[in-house]
Amino acid sequence: MTTEPDQPHPPIRSYALRRGRFTTAQQRAVEQWFSTFGIPYSADLVDFDKAFGRAAPTVLEIGFGMGETTVAIAQHRPDINFLGVEVFAAGVGALLKTMAEKKVCNIRIVQHDAVDVVRDMLREQSLTGVHIYFPDPWPKSRHHKRRLLKQPFLHLLASRLAPSAYLHCATDWHDYALQMLTELSAEPALVNMHDGYAPTPENPLCNRPVTKFHARGSRLGHATFDLLFARRAEDVA
Ligand SMILES: C[S@@+](CC[C@H](N)C(=O)[O-])C[C@H]1O[C@@H](n2cnc3c(N)ncnc32)[C@H](O)[C@@H]1O
Repeated sequence: MTTEPDQPHPPIRSYALRRGRFTTAQQRAVEQWFSTFGIPYSADLVDFDKAFGRAAPTVLEIGFGMGETTVAIAQHRPDINFLGVEVFAAGVGALLKTMAEKKVCNIRIVQHDAVDVVRDMLREQSLTGVHIYFPDPWPKSRHHKRRLLKQPFLHLLASRLAPSAYLHCATDWHDYALQMLTELSAEPALVNMHDGYAPTPENPLCNRPVTKFHARGSRLGHATFDLLFARRAEDVA
């Protein structure tokens, strides 16, 4: 499968720049640690070996929120590089603060829109996995166009997965889960690793911990849906 590198990608306003105070501690963590663990957005491909200081499989996480799950997974798999992308400044500060407290060094952070990052910074077939946990659901019909997990972004994202690499998504919004299942199943480069939804919280690297938004959904009485797809081993035109 090929993707034109300079093909324009329609913007998706999948996030609201909002919520939450940027605390002094988070700000301090950014000042102290972003130069070590942050990667500024640029339109150039990122060299993973250089960015992580080693050659290791790399997993992308889009929308890590406050990053609690990111750290838990990274601690469990020190052999894997985790690249977290988030637009929310307080979330970036919170993740850097937790990384420093827990001495976790296998995470790098880009604070920018993931659509631009995937299109401009990631080489084709370079990722071992992608985690997208509880993306903003945009539940009102007039806002469905703001949902991230739909075409053509899914096709772009699939092109960045190495053959047999996985894409793990989760949501507590049933109609978004149905939309994800339909759109992911229709993407020629991907194959469902399960018959429908995946057992919660199965993940090939380590089971997905309960995220902040998973817990919130459970409090609201929502069921949770995990989806686990793999990039087809053969090339797809
Ligand atoms: C509902 S929260 C989920 C956070 C976390 N994954 C969890 O489960 O607790 C979704 C997150 O995705 C981020 N986000 C949404 N669209 C994004 C985009 N295009 N690029 C980067 N981050 C994005 C939002 O800022 C938000 O923090």
